Amino acid sequence: MLEEEKFASLRNLISSHTGMDVEDSGDDKLRQAVAERLNVLGLPPARYLALLEARGGETEREWDALVSLMTVGESYFFRDKGQIEVLRRWLLPELIERARFTRTLRLWSTGCSRGEEAYTLAILLRELIPDIDDWNIEIWGTDINRQALRQGGKGIFDAWSLRALDSVKVAQYFTEQVVGAQRCWLLTAPIRKLVTFRYFNLFKDCLLGPFSGFDLILCRNVFIYFRRDAISAVADKLANALAPGGYLMTGHAELHEICPNGVIPRLFPETIAYQRVRSPSADHPMPIMTPLPPRTPLKIPARPRLSSNQTGEQLTGMRPPKPLPSRDDAELMVIKELHKNHEYGLALERAERFVARRPEDFRGNYLLSWLYADVGRYEQALVCAEQALNIDPFAAAPYFLLAHLAEERGDVEEAKRLLKKALYLDPAYTSAYLELAALYALEGDEVRTRKARIAALDLLKNIPGQTAVEPYCGLTASQLTSYVREMLEHG
Ligand SMILES: C[S@@+](CC[C@H](N)C(=O)[O-])C[C@H]1O[C@@H](n2cnc3c(N)ncnc32)[C@H](O)[C@@H]1O
Repeated sequence: MLEEEKFASLRNLISSHTGMDVEDSGDDKLRQAVAERLNVLGLPPARYLALLEARGGETEREWDALVSLMTVGESYFFRDKGQIEVLRRWLLPELIERARFTRTLRLWSTGCSRGEEAYTLAILLRELIPDIDDWNIEIWGTDINRQALRQGGKGIFDAWSLRALDSVKVAQYFTEQVVGAQRCWLLTAPIRKLVTFRYFNLFKDCLLGPFSGFDLILCRNVFIYFRRDAISAVADKLANALAPGGYLMTGHAELHEICPNGVIPRLFPETIAYQRVRSPSADHPMPIMTPLPPRTPLKIPARPRLSSNQTGEQLTGMRPPKPLPSRDDAELMVIKELHKNHEYGLALERAERFVARRPEDFRGNYLLSWLYADVGRYEQALVCAEQALNIDPFAAAPYFLLAHLAEERGDVEEAKRLLKKALYLDPAYTSAYLELAALYALEGDEVRTRKARIAALDLLKNIPGQTAVEPYCGLTASQLTSYVREMLEHG
């Protein structure tokens, strides 16, 4: 039996060697692993601790043995359909297109276990690049578990690793074998030769040798076992290992609200990928968001739904060129995109965490108030909108939201007052005119309705046609212009 004090030292040692959150994820596992090693080596706990703390070949071998007992190597080919589709349809074609002259691509599967993920990349590239043999493709598969790496190098897998593949793919890329009494599958040589396996401890090792300038890095289902501070450090390290324009993809929500340095999030319906900015000093940074694949066509709403991610500068719908986003900016962008894609649960969770961390941030409070409003938590929406106004009493946008909340309560007079207040603070607030027009229309006040619509139309003329006007669910300025014209003519 390990004394608690020795056990705590061992736990710290493992955590500082691997970055793993041993406390949270595996006291029992650690106890079992250590008991097994003490038994095999016939050492008392104190000597075992000393062995792990020493340097040299014996210590390294012991770390390998312990790590292979401690880590979770679960993986399979084509893991996570959504992310694989994003790789196949968006990221890899973009990278291939960009590399068409150099014909060179460098990919890294970190925490690759036995290599299922690295080989999945190899298969995807083979399918996407018809003349791949004329390309210079490097796919690195790295892990802290040497036993898994050795297994990966052999390219032999059991049925469990192939469970997401259909029979066509299995027949195309594998040969069935029987080893002993076990059925297993050997990957074909053209796929095997694309992947190189190496030991790399994400937490401890530096980006030396081949570990820089990657077009794509996958680090999926690895951070779930890491301490929070370790996640942040490793994510920054991986972002640094990207070539300009390269992508980092982690498992879902594995980075929580962390956005690594030097990358911007690109959002897809299925996942987020982080793209290294081409040149941090460039005057015109890269577009922040990926154009999402087409969604169902939008109908022009008679009244917009409670849905906005508006900030002060967006009131006119104009998007000025953005400076490189800070971590907070990047997190807010992620939340806004989640909001836009109606992922309310996730957006709320992140926004609440953001506001808890940055209670004085106007944008966080404002965003959170819209999210609460959209899920019908009006009391909380009110508190957050008022908090946003405490932070910035001259912001017009919270008045717009408060007007919606007043309308929800059936207080049309208060709603109109609040919209007028928003317009007083920002006379170019197109959506406030449209809302006001809708309220006047409800009351049958044709003159005021018309006046407010004409004012909105005048403002829309100054907005580039393709610009989305908040909070109208993605409607562009030109679509809104047609809608308002129509209302003026026939409304
Ligand atoms: C659950 S597997 C994920 C495999 C694959 N990425 C996937 O998503 O299917 C997690 C892997 O991370 C590895 N790992 C844990 N800590 C690591 C570290 N500090 N450096 C490198 N790899 C590590 C483990 O050995 C394990 O093979």
